[in-house]
Amino acid sequence: MKGDKARSAQDRLVVWIAIGLVLLSVWWALRDDLRVSSLIQSQSTNPVLTTEAISLVTGDEPLVDMFIRSGCPVCHKIPGIPGADGQVGPPLVLGTTGEQRLKDPRYRGQAKTVHEYIVESVLEPQRFVVHGYPEHTMPNWYGSRLSALALEKMASYLERQTEGSSAP
Ligand code: HEC
Repeated sequence: MKGDKARSAQDRLVVWIAIGLVLLSVWWALRDDLRVSSLIQSQSTNPVLTTEAISLVTGDEPLVDMFIRSGCPVCHKIPGIPGADGQVGPPLVLGTTGEQRLKDPRYRGQAKTVHEYIVESVLEPQRFVVHGYPEHTMPNWYGSRLSALALEKMASYLERQTEGSSAP
């Protein structure tokens, strides 16, 4: 009889340990899950570039470097720029789209030429948000990271790009 009692106490102990292990693994799984979901929440759906990540572009660099160093390819497709296949913003084929923007009845900017429109779009992206694309996504601090010369050169390049072009 005494042996039976001891055995049932032992059985109970085994059961409690098993329950403990199950609870522990549930907690562990949830803990991982919570960590992952908080990570996903903390990343917005759009890529975020910070000013610190972009070093000043002087305009003396080769054109390709200017685009790559300023991070435009992350969000834009740019003909002739390797790896520039971003989908967040419109393809930068202003030779095709520039005139349409200036004629758009919703356009409220100051630009009179496509070149001016490109410069304005980079310095003040909130002035005209291309229909179908998210606002407050294109960084609004490029004025402090791109020299006037760099911006001039980039705009001159972009206004020559047309849909379907793949080289400078
Ligand atoms: C984080 C994403 C992001 C980055 C980086 C970015 N852009 Fe944009 N850009 C956008 C989005 C989104 C739009 C469309 C909404 C708007 O007009 O603001 C846009 C719009 C534009 C337009 C207007 C295009 C059109 O079809 O009318 C130009 C020009 C432009 N960007 C140039 C640049 C250049 C040059 C760079 C790099 C110096 C750059 N962008 C970097 C997201 C980005």
